[in-house]
Amino acid sequence: MNPPVFPLTALLQHSTWLLPLVKTLHLWGIVFMVGSVIMFDLRVLGLAKTLSVRALARFLLPISVAAVFIVIPSGVVLLAAHPNELLANRLFTIKLGLIFLSACNALAFHTGPYTTVAQWDSAVPAPLSAKLFTGLSILLWLAVILCGRTLAFT
Ligand code: HEM
Repeated sequence: MNPPVFPLTALLQHSTWLLPLVKTLHLWGIVFMVGSVIMFDLRVLGLAKTLSVRALARFLLPISVAAVFIVIPSGVVLLAAHPNELLANRLFTIKLGLIFLSACNALAFHTGPYTTVAQWDSAVPAPLSAKLFTGLSILLWLAVILCGRTLAFT
């Protein structure tokens, strides 16, 4: 039996410009989402110590959250282009698992070490636990990007 072909799948596979457009949207979203998270993480790790962590969070984190609303829908549309192949691809499963871990890591950071941020807002090093979460955040997001980019060659 042939695998089901959704109308969106057929549209994406037959249009020459739709898939590149959605891939570009996905990348634009990633730039704002991952870029702002990593800038915040670098501050917590000890760069630009005079900048207030809370002021930086107020500036960067809404950008990151807004970009999620570009990255996830565009990712779902990209998935619809080749659903059967991608859902059977181990790298795609690993990518989704890493995104889930990143979300858990961010939640643990905000409900954990970030609750004491008033004590290390500026000019004081962040506690080791905050540095561990933000260091892990950078590694996880870079790994998600590696999986996403490599998917195109598998
Ligand atoms: C949340 C953070 C995410 C990051 C950092 C990310 C990263 C990437 C990157 C770097 C690419 C390569 C783009 C290119 O080759 O031009 C990509 C492609 C892709 N992403 Fe994402 N992605 C994310 C979320 C998602 C989600 C939630 C889904 C689906 C549910 C998804 C599905 C896809 C698909 C299907 C592709 C195309 C793979 C291919 O070329 O065959 N992504 N992603």
